[in-house]
Amino acid sequence: MNVGILGSGVVGKSFARAFAATGNDVKIGSRTPEQLNDFVTEAAPRVTAGTFTETARFGEVIVVATLGTGTEEAIRIAGPENFTRKVTIDATNPLELTPGGPPKLAIGHTGSLGERVQRWAPNARVVKAFNTVGNTLFYRPQLPGGPPDMFICGNEPAAKIAVSRICSEFGWGVIDIGGIEGARYLEAMCMTWVLHGILSGGWSHAFKMLRK
Ligand SMILES: NC(=O)c1ccc[n+]([C@@H]2O[C@H](COP(=O)([O-])OP(=O)(O)OC[C@H]3O[C@@H](n4cnc5c(N)ncnc54)[C@H](OP(=O)(O)O)[C@@H]3O)[C@@H](O)[C@H]2O)c1
Repeated sequence: MNVGILGSGVVGKSFARAFAATGNDVKIGSRTPEQLNDFVTEAAPRVTAGTFTETARFGEVIVVATLGTGTEEAIRIAGPENFTRKVTIDATNPLELTPGGPPKLAIGHTGSLGERVQRWAPNARVVKAFNTVGNTLFYRPQLPGGPPDMFICGNEPAAKIAVSRICSEFGWGVIDIGGIEGARYLEAMCMTWVLHGILSGGWSHAFKMLRK
């Protein structure tokens, strides 16, 4: 499968490595793809780099892994038409940095970045996922309590099944919480993860739902 990853940061790179490791061809996107030359050399042969537009066109599945405040612009550059009918994983969080304190959510309660991504790419099949854990645990996390759970939401059941398969290939259980409005809570859940990390000084934790 061809996977297009919008985002050249640590999250985009972790996705690129994980999708390549599971046998997919990956294009990782940036406004300046030449900055990814060293990464592409390291991640060859399955990973190439391109502009946001080239990356969105390339992907049969698209991942949005851009800075919260840059996400609208990234989708605009990528071309919303290039997302049509494509399963689109939204891993972003609307974090607002506050000097000297923990980050805050810039949107919440009555809206979310996940819902905005769905509006900015209206024909995409958006699934919010991978935003509630640090990127170093995306792929095959080895934790003493066993595989953690990826909490996901999105409007289309078939798209969520596709993303659930990806999560399970990456070593995760999956908890579906419903439509894309659930992103309001998954983005808040990211803050829970971040605040615990700041307090504990460690970043190797992940959520798991226990049930009978
Ligand atoms: N850090 C984690 O472990 C983690 C885990 C889960 C989710 N997340 C979320 O994943 C996203 C990516 O995080 P990150 O730390 O990898 O990188 P980041 O620094 O948040 O984002 C980097 C990407 O955003 C793009 N970008 C920034 N401003 C832009 C603008 N004005 N217009 C268009 N594109 C813009 C950059 O484009 P260029 O390539 O052109 O510079 C780059 O590709 C964030 O929303 C973050 O909250 C992070």
